[in-house]
Amino acid sequence: MAFLWLLSCFAFIGASYGCGSPAISPVVTGYARIVNGEEAVPGSWPWQVSLQSDSGWHFCGGSLINDNWVVTAAHCGVSTADFVIVGAHDKSSKMELSQKSMSIAKVITHPKWSSFTINYDVSVVKLASPVQFSRQVTPVCLAATADNYSAGMMCVTTGWGRTRAYPPQRPNNLQQAALPLLTNAECKQYWGNKITDIMICAGASGASSCMGDSGGPLVCQKNNAWNLVGIVSWGSGSCSTSRPGVYARVTELRGWIDETIAAN
Ligand code: ARG
Repeated sequence: MAFLWLLSCFAFIGASYGCGSPAISPVVTGYARIVNGEEAVPGSWPWQVSLQSDSGWHFCGGSLINDNWVVTAAHCGVSTADFVIVGAHDKSSKMELSQKSMSIAKVITHPKWSSFTINYDVSVVKLASPVQFSRQVTPVCLAATADNYSAGMMCVTTGWGRTRAYPPQRPNNLQQAALPLLTNAECKQYWGNKITDIMICAGASGASSCMGDSGGPLVCQKNNAWNLVGIVSWGSGSCSTSRPGVYARVTELRGWIDETIAAN
């Protein structure tokens, strides 16, 4: 009996807090705002965080990768004076019980980050204290260095970025959009040589990440788990839904992320 209890206990922990497996299932219609996205099921992207200044201004997204660390974009310029909001759906709500504001202990940016080329657009953020996982707060899996995510695969990007670029429309509720991956060769037809091997493109399919989504996730399903494949980085200034968004390519950054969090 005790053995059975122990077994189901581990099963519960595995199901609830393993990476890339939301306790609350996301529903992505049409597997397809983010421009032309849709509101997410509350709590269904449990690794999504909002990065906010001390005045409560949402400036970027991010993804929890374990109970101490968040992955975001270097260009977000996160500082230890900012806050990581976990477990949010309505980012303006002071009443969501799942929501917690966490202080930041460290921000480490990729040594090869260039604000000129927007290459290596990744930072890792260490929380001042570990988050408590819950139904609405669990980590995403990181794409492995050797993984292959092929062009045409439908993935999902999420965030509180603008649902319309100009005049800006800023949603309170988390938005999602399903987007296909492109090859870098296809992406260069839009963006030319700005596209490097450390970038991966998605979209040009009727929806687009937009300002305020930066740092947030582009996730793809593999072996029944959601994997972080891209970090929202840059794209059309008007968030045109017929141009691909550009994401930092996690398979190329995984080594640095692992080493950095192991050493800090
Ligand atoms: N760099 C932007 C930000 O800071 C995100 C870009 C997302 N995509 C786009 N098409 N503009 O939020």
